[in-house]
Amino acid sequence: MLRGNRELWLAGLFCVLITGLYGVVVLWTRAIPDAGELFGHSIGILGFVLMLMTEILYSLRKRSKSAAFGRMSAWLQFHIFTGLVGPFMVLLHTSWKFNGLAGATTLLTVIIVFSGIVGRYIYTRIPRTLDGLEIEGTLSQEALKRARQLMSLWHTVHIPIGIALFLSAFAHIGAALYYATLSK
Ligand code: HEM
Ligand code: HEM
Repeated sequence: MLRGNRELWLAGLFCVLITGLYGVVVLWTRAIPDAGELFGHSIGILGFVLMLMTEILYSLRKRSKSAAFGRMSAWLQFHIFTGLVGPFMVLLHTSWKFNGLAGATTLLTVIIVFSGIVGRYIYTRIPRTLDGLEIEGTLSQEALKRARQLMSLWHTVHIPIGIALFLSAFAHIGAALYYATLSK
């Protein structure tokens, strides 16, 4: 079971701190950090690494079935934390320009974050142990059945969006590095 909203508060706190740092850079340079310059580029790479961790780590833990790697609930909290902070950093990387493929990648990023928020809401409707296993008998069977159906419908939407997002992100990274960095 996910207890409380600790991961949401922590993610919020990190986003405020990162916004502060972004503000300092804006005041210092008197310009919006460019996506291809040191600060904008670094924040994009760091944010993308957090997004990759979001995509991979929770799924690996879910499939390992071994409690030795830590509780599922803690991994899901970490998933949500990196799934909010990573996209936020990537948003600051964009320099508020959303042309072409990079713009489409940003849109997919925003969609997956909103989809995650909806998924968290449905997920927490189902009573679970700390290892994420459902607890039978605490909800009426009808409500439990409905929540399970919604959760599996949600998975069939959320997972393909994630795949599309990373395909598009890798294409953007390849193109950006080639045209903005290597070919100069
Ligand atoms: C999901 C992750 C990412 C998203 C959504 C994203 C989005 C964007 C957006 C919207 C722009 C501005 C495009 C424009 O000028 O209209 C941009 C520029 C850029 N991005 Fe990313 N980015 C991501 C990750 C990365 C990563 C990891 C790198 C580097 C390894 C990177 C390198 C660049 C560079 C170099 C530019 C500047 C391109 C230029 O000046 O023409 N991006 N990105
Ligand atoms: C970069 C952003 C994100 C990516 C790429 C991503 C990707 C994924 C993937 C691939 C899964 C399927 C895991 C599996 O069943 O193997 C998943 C599940 C999930 N994600 Fe995300 N996610 C992101 C952000 C978020 C956010 C922001 C939240 C909540 C606020 C969230 C909440 C969830 C929940 C509740 C599950 C279902 C857990 C389960 O059924 O075991 N995700 N996510």
